[in-house]
Amino acid sequence: MQNTDFSLREYCSEHTLAMPALLLHLLKTPGLTGAVTPSSCYLALAMVRATGEVHHVVELGAGTGPVTKELRRRLPHASMVAVEIQPSLAQQLRSKFSGLDVRQDPAHEVLDGLIYPGPAAVVSSLPFRSLPQDMREVTVASIERFLRRVPGSRLVQFTYQPRAPFEASADFRWHKTCSVWRNVPPAGVWLLQSLPKT
Ligand SMILES: C[S@@+](CC[C@H](N)C(=O)[O-])C[C@H]1O[C@@H](n2cnc3c(N)ncnc32)[C@H](O)[C@@H]1O
Repeated sequence: MQNTDFSLREYCSEHTLAMPALLLHLLKTPGLTGAVTPSSCYLALAMVRATGEVHHVVELGAGTGPVTKELRRRLPHASMVAVEIQPSLAQQLRSKFSGLDVRQDPAHEVLDGLIYPGPAAVVSSLPFRSLPQDMREVTVASIERFLRRVPGSRLVQFTYQPRAPFEASADFRWHKTCSVWRNVPPAGVWLLQSLPKT
């Protein structure tokens, strides 16, 4: 991974510019959006650190793109697919990150169609605690299918809650990697991996 410094001024202006876009979606679709402000650069960095050195990354709920940006910056050689259900946000991601494979579809539909030759990281900003129940259920089922189908893969997920982002099946284990206080609101970064078969 490249060094960990970043330009605070550059980040602050991008963060401020991204705020109205996310607020607009929060008003229109609060359950799907689930955040009042874009993820901070500190949260984005913590997500990328938890991702580790992988060759394949799928980002779910890329939104206004702060995590996308850190992933591209720190894992420049990894293949990457960014998934964002809202058409205008997906379009903004395409304009912002040239050459990025952006899919404007529900996360579970994209995940179910992906096949990788080796371990991949699913890096998610999806708001599981506010998603409509049917969408939450199909998305969790699809993530678990993906992690079983592509051995050695992991889910990196943040949450604003003091508990794991969602209940996972018995063959998976959650592990909290860190708390990020410099985010509004503060967030925990969690990893989900399958348990070794006995
Ligand atoms: C917490 S917000 C975005 C966080 C992002 N890190 C940012 O700072 O902009 C979650 C995003 O997930 C998207 N989303 C929600 N449900 C989705 C789904 N089922 N498939 C794909 N994207 C989804 C929302 O449209 C929203 O942009």
